[in-house]
Amino acid sequence: MARTESAKRAGAFGVSARLALAIVSLAFACGSSEDPPAEKSNPASPPAAQAAPAKDAEKKAPSAAEAEPSNADLVAKGRQVYVSNCTACHNPNPAENGALGPAIADSSLALLEAKVIHNTYPPGYTPKRDTNAMIALPHLAKDIPALHAYLTSVK
Ligand code: HEC
Repeated sequence: MARTESAKRAGAFGVSARLALAIVSLAFACGSSEDPPAEKSNPASPPAAQAAPAKDAEKKAPSAAEAEPSNADLVAKGRQVYVSNCTACHNPNPAENGALGPAIADSSLALLEAKVIHNTYPPGYTPKRDTNAMIALPHLAKDIPALHAYLTSVK
């Protein structure tokens, strides 16, 4: 019974089924013809134009903030150089006297260059100690600015 009814329905709806197929195929045809323009319009100018200003804004914010981190980087590098090269004799806190070396937190760039690179003092400078126990560390010439940035930041 069910089979015959369904067969009758299939026959009765045969025409509409073909119409439906035609409509579906048309829909596919329309869809396929609509899709490419839709894809083109999406990635085209509007999103790209929006992405560019967003990137510019992101770039501006870090670059403006970079000025401070760069000095912080120098200070951090100077601290690293100080801890690994100076604290055998100077205090881990450069503002205090160490086992051998005096406090050097207030050292000028000229004093650091003279004492660290050449184990001398700038002209007219009165040393904190009249000993000559420190050795020159000329390989740290490149790190003098970082050392200076760190030592003056501790003050
Ligand atoms: C071997 C131990 C030793 C080491 C390592 C050492 N110092 Fe010294 N430093 C001294 C001593 C001791 C003095 C006191 C003067 C002297 O005897 O040479 C001194 C003096 C100084 C002075 C002069 C202070 C003043 O105003 O008279 C500076 C600046 C200084 N040291 C910086 C440094 C820095 C920066 C480092 C690391 C890169 C360093 N020293 C590593 C022992 C040391």
